[in-house]
Amino acid sequence: MRVGILGVVAIVVSVSAALAQTPVQRGEYLVNTIMTCGNCHTPKGPGGVPQNDKLLSGGLRFDEPVFDVTASNITPDKETGIGSWSERDIKILLTTGIRPDGVQVAPIMPFAFYKNMLPRDLDAVVAYLKSTPAVKNQVPAPIYKVAIQATPYPDAQKLLTESDLRDPLARGRYLATIGHCMECHTPMEKGHHLYDTALGKGGMEIPGPWGVSVVPNITSSKTAGLGNADAATIKRAITQGIGKDGRKLKPPMDYAAYAKMTDQDLDALVTWVRSLPPKD
Ligand code: HEC
Ligand code: HEC
Repeated sequence: MRVGILGVVAIVVSVSAALAQTPVQRGEYLVNTIMTCGNCHTPKGPGGVPQNDKLLSGGLRFDEPVFDVTASNITPDKETGIGSWSERDIKILLTTGIRPDGVQVAPIMPFAFYKNMLPRDLDAVVAYLKSTPAVKNQVPAPIYKVAIQATPYPDAQKLLTESDLRDPLARGRYLATIGHCMECHTPMEKGHHLYDTALGKGGMEIPGPWGVSVVPNITSSKTAGLGNADAATIKRAITQGIGKDGRKLKPPMDYAAYAKMTDQDLDALVTWVRSLPPKD
């Protein structure tokens, strides 16, 4: 009898614990799954393996004709990280790209996609960043050769509410926005993404230690895109890095991070991918 009652109590407790995620837990989930901050900000060792003992302490260098920047140390270290930034400073950086000294970061940092993050999620990301261990690691100072503006991302202009996200397609669109999928999956012309005319069409070439990855078309085009792929195939691509043709996909898409998403979020993301108008 007693065991039975205790069992019921335990179930009730664990259900409410799952619902009551703390801001730090929510932030940890967002940063380390869909938002893939570590894919750029965590240093990688031999073979591209992330050095998780140096989580978020500065990583990839982007040496391009217009700038030469390195993903910053975003741990709370006061000297080499962002330990002296206020919560407000971090939120302004994430939503506008402007640092406390007024200088805008290079748009390779996906701030254009975070413009209208749900306030609760923005708070959560900041709470988590503040909770991570401080790591001392000085990254090289950025060099800007020309002033460049980020291309505004259409879906990031929309203000959403918590209740909008109960709809799987709207939820998927939100996740894909803060997950900056289209930064890679949409081609660029003269330094700007063609979000209005070629959303999801692919074609960008991304060089790295892996050679050169050509970003695929993920629209619903039956010939050039994923129009003939079912939901399970698309989910497998996102979480396991296995393409529609069974091929092992190359970096820099962070398959391992997406694999840690909840099923509800993954299914929503796949619903959104399948809704993309065809582009050939
Ligand atoms: C595609 C790669 C990429 C992703 C993903 C990314 N960042 Fe960045 N981030 C950068 C780069 C590169 C810089 C430095 C740009 C510069 O110096 O102009 C930067 C700069 C920053 C800065 C400014 C720090 C400083 O000292 O000036 C913060 C804060 C930041 N990122 C936080 C985040 C967070 C939080 C996430 C995930 C929600 C994230 N970034 C995702 C590439 C990325
Ligand atoms: C940093 C760049 C980058 C980001 C961000 C990115 N991808 Fe990718 N994606 C790629 C590359 C590169 C490949 C293919 C690599 C290859 O062909 O070896 C790929 C492959 C895919 C495929 C497999 C397509 C096929 O033909 O089988 C799907 C589906 C996909 N991405 C969806 C997404 C979604 C959804 C997001 C956001 C949650 C996303 N990607 C974010 C670069 C990116």
